[in-house]
Order: sequence, then structure tokens, then C-alpha cells
Amino acid sequence: GYAQVGAESDWRTANTKSFKSTFTEENGYKLIFDDAQQKQENQIKAIRSFIQQDVDYIVVAPVVETGWETVLKEAKDAGIPVILSDRQMKLSDDSLYTCWVGGNFIKEGHDAGDWLAAYLKKQGRENDDINIVTLQGTIGASAQVGRTEGFGDKLKEHPKWHMLATQTGEFTQAKGQEVMESFLKSYPDIDVVVAENDNMAFGAIDAIKAAGKTCGPNGDIIIISFDAVAAAFDAMMAGDMNCSVECNPLHGPRVDAIIKKLQAGEKVNKIQYVDEKLFDTTMDLKAIKATRLY
Ligand code: AHR
Repeated sequence: GYAQVGAESDWRTANTKSFKSTFTEENGYKLIFDDAQQKQENQIKAIRSFIQQDVDYIVVAPVVETGWETVLKEAKDAGIPVILSDRQMKLSDDSLYTCWVGGNFIKEGHDAGDWLAAYLKKQGRENDDINIVTLQGTIGASAQVGRTEGFGDKLKEHPKWHMLATQTGEFTQAKGQEVMESFLKSYPDIDVVVAENDNMAFGAIDAIKAAGKTCGPNGDIIIISFDAVAAAFDAMMAGDMNCSVECNPLHGPRVDAIIKKLQAGEKVNKIQYVDEKLFDTTMDLKAIKATRLY
């Protein structure tokens, strides 16, 4: 059983595709897939239904980090291993899950901050006051918590960077646009938008253009984003976005490899980080995009 977050972003669509194309009958699996529509209570219901159906493994991409102890204890009591994928859980007892595989969200935030510092230096703006707003992901999701914390660490290193406002855009394009519209009304002098995923960045770009402003390498506002989905490459090539920090969604084969090891009685690493890169407009984006699967 796979308890998926929802279908809120291009990243999520690629992640679902990765699981559905890996966990096929040809590969020896029967996948029960549940889309929780970004609601933790739906994921808890899905996990309980997987337990009732006596599945062999439960895989969860948790919407938020906290509130999982009771249902994971039920899975443990039923003898069903739980593998976490993508986002993490904050648990008082780590024996409630077998292992986790996903991106290093704090490092992603650090990489975004380091990229901004280098970019401003190149422009001779390293001593300028820089006004920043952040479109956060779903509050309490480890992707939001880690990216906010990682970028926050870099803010502390740069006293001239001013975080004017942070607000959730729920990882969706529509909400990202709506929040950016209100940011633009409240703050006429935004220099940088940090969007905690590409889809919110796309919404922000639409809001910026509708307000008669420009963004990207030759525009008024620098756009930094996370995920590096195909449409982000298009936005960078169109000159609307400056950089996107990769978050790799192709976890299907990784979870398959974990299950095969467990089936063979082998040990697996408890925490498994995936290597991720950063892409910006100085790179040959067309060539790189052609090599990518999402
Ligand atoms: O947990 C990964 C995040 O969730 C991705 O950055 C985002 O696009 C998705 O909704």
C-alpha cells in the first residue's frame, strides 16, 4: 500500500508515476495506491485500510511530520513494515518505521541561500539591502520545515538580507499565485522570491507579470525555486526563473530496492538521502532537460 500525499504539484505527479510504473504485476507486485488529497486524516485512514487488507509493506509519503505514533503502532502490532519515502516523520520511537528515503531538505535550503549569495556577488550587490519573500510549502511538511530552516541559516549569515514575509502557498500553483498577489500589494520593493516548490514559483511568476513587473535574470525580481521539474527548465529558458534546487521524485525504484533487500533478509540503512543538484540559467538547460525523466 502506498499512502501518497496528493496531486498538488508536477513533482508529486512524477512521484506517483514512478511508483505506479515500478510496482506493477510484471514486477511481482500488487500496488494499492491512495491519494490523500493533502490531508493527514486521509493518510491515516489509508494506512488503517492497508492494515485491514493485510498488505506486506506500507509505504508512506507523510503530508506532515507529526501525529503518526498511534497508526504506526497499529502497523507494527500487525507485523507490517512501514517504509517512509519523500518527507520524514518526527517520532518518539524510531522503531515504528523500517527506513526512510528522500531528499535532504535542509541542504536544499542551504544550496538556495549559497546560490543567492554567489549570484548577488557576481552582480556587485553583495553589500546591498535585499528584500526577500518566501512562499512556503504545506506548514509542518518536512519539505517546508527543512527548506525554511536551511534558507533561514543562510539569512543569519547575511544581515543585509531582509525576510519581509513568509506565507504558505500549500505547494500549489494557484495558492502560490494568490499569496504572491498579496505580497506584491503589501511590499512594492521585493528583490527575491523564494518559492518552496516550482509550482508555487510558476504562480508567483504569473502574479508578478500581471502586476506589470518582470522577473528572472533580466527582470526586477529574482526567482529561486525547488524541485527542478521539466516546466522549471522551461521557465528558466524563457528567462522567468533564476534557479531551481533539485528534489528528486523518482523514489519508486529506490523503494523497490529496499523491499528486495528486506525480502532477502538483508539490512537496510535507516536514513537514505538522494543526491541532488542545482540548476540555473548559466547552464546548458536544453541539453540537461533532454536527459531528465521529470
Ligand atoms: O515533499 C516534496 C515536495 O512536495 C515537493 O517539493 C513539492 O513539489 C511537493 O508537493
